[in-house]
Amino acid sequence: MGDTDDRRFSAPVPPEGLAEWLALKDRALDVAAEGITIADARLPDRPLIYANEGFERMTGYPVAEVLGRNCRFLQGPATDAAPMAEVRAALAESRECVVEILNYRKDGSQFWNRLSITPVRDSSGQVTHFIGIQSDVTARREAENGLRRAKEALEQDLRLAARVQQALLPPAEMEAGSLRVAHAFHPCDDLAGDAVGIVPLPQELMGLYLLDVSGHGVGAALLSFTLNHLLSPAVEGALITERTASGLSAVPPARVAERLNRQFPMDRTRQYFTLIYGVIDPSSGRFQYAMAGHPAPVLLRRGVPPAVVKGAGLPIGMIEEAAFEDETLTLDPGDRLYFYTDGAIEASNAGEQEFGHARLLEELGRWRDRPLREGLDLVADTVRAWCGGRLMDDVSLLAVERIG
Ligand SMILES: Cc1cc2nc3c(=O)[nH]c(=O)nc-3n(C[C@H](O)[C@H](O)[C@H](O)COP(=O)(O)O)c2cc1C
Repeated sequence: MGDTDDRRFSAPVPPEGLAEWLALKDRALDVAAEGITIADARLPDRPLIYANEGFERMTGYPVAEVLGRNCRFLQGPATDAAPMAEVRAALAESRECVVEILNYRKDGSQFWNRLSITPVRDSSGQVTHFIGIQSDVTARREAENGLRRAKEALEQDLRLAARVQQALLPPAEMEAGSLRVAHAFHPCDDLAGDAVGIVPLPQELMGLYLLDVSGHGVGAALLSFTLNHLLSPAVEGALITERTASGLSAVPPARVAERLNRQFPMDRTRQYFTLIYGVIDPSSGRFQYAMAGHPAPVLLRRGVPPAVVKGAGLPIGMIEEAAFEDETLTLDPGDRLYFYTDGAIEASNAGEQEFGHARLLEELGRWRDRPLREGLDLVADTVRAWCGGRLMDDVSLLAVERIG
C-alpha cells in the first residue's frame, strides 16, 4: 500500500495508471443500481455510446445491443406523451430535465423509469453529450397507486355513510297539533357526530333531542347512529318509552339521560356526548327537558328579547354516578324554542374570535318573523360565513314553535 495508490486517487492521474483508473471508474459505474447512459449530442438522432450494467439489469437489454441506438426503444404503447414532450424540449434547449415515464423491458414487461438527463459541454460551451440516469421507481409508484385507491375507496365509503345519515334525518320541517318543528343539520365533514331527532311518543307527545358526540369522523358518527337508533320509539325496549300500569308512556327526560349515562360510560366508548332531550305536549305546550353538558336552549317569547333557559348537567359518559334533572317550561302560542350544538357558538373567525352566545341570540331575534325553517337556515348561513365558509365543527339547530 502506500504512496503510489494515494497519488492515484488524489493527484492528476499518472499516464502509466490511466487504463487501471478508467477500469476502476467503469466498475464503479457498473455496480451502481441506477442505469447510466451517455448519448452523443453531435451525431444524428443522439445514439447511445455508453450504457452501464445497471441499465442492462434494469431493462434486460444487453449493453452491446443498445449502443448506437436512440434510447426511445424503451418506450411502448402506454408511454405517456407529456413527459416525452418535456424530454424533447429539454434536449432541444440543451438543459437538464427529470421525468417519470412508463418504459418497457426487453421481455415486454413495464416499469416506471425516473429519468434524469443532463447536458455535458466541452471547453467552448458546446453540448457534446447527454448523460442519462435511469432509476426503477415502479415499487414507489405502485405503493402510491395503492394508497390513492385505498383513499378513494375510503372516501366513497364515507360519502355513502353520510348519505345514510342524511336519509335518517327527520323531515326538515313538520307540524303536529299546535306545534311546528324544524331543524338544520350542517356536518363539517361527510359524517357528523351530531344527531337530531323528532320522535312521536305515546299519548300524542313528541320527543325532541339534539346530541353532539365528542370528536369527529367515523367513531363519533357510529355512536351518533347508535344513539339515534336507541332514541327511537320503534325500538323494542327502547330508552324513551316504558310500559306502566296505564299502558305505554314516555320516560321522563332525566331518566333517559341517566339510562344513557349508564349504558355509554366513556371508559368503554372513549367518547362522551352532550344531549338535550325533551318531551313536549302539543296540546298544552308543556315542555319537560333534561340537559347533559349541552348548551342551554334559547326561548323567544313574543315581545321579549331572546333568553337562555334554565338547565345544567354533565355530558353523558363522563361520570358514572352523574345525576340529571328535569326542567319544565310552557310554550305559549307564538313562542319559539331553539336548540343548537356548540358548533354554532364556538365557530371561530379568522381572528380566532368565537361566534358566541350573544351573537346567536341576536341572530335568532333578528329572524323572529321569518318562517321557522328559513330562520334556522339564515342563522346557519351566518355561522358559516363567520368562519369563512368552512365549518370546523358540526352545526345543528332544532327549533319548535307553538303555532298561534
Ligand atoms: C442520455 C439519454 C437517455 C435517455 N434515456 C431514456 C430512457 O431511459 N427511456 C426513455 O423512454 N427515453 C430515454 N431518452 C429519451 C429518448 O432517447 C428520446 O430523446 C425521447 O424519446 C424524445 O425524442 P423522440 O420524440 O424523438 O423520441 C433518453 C435520452 C437521452 C439523451
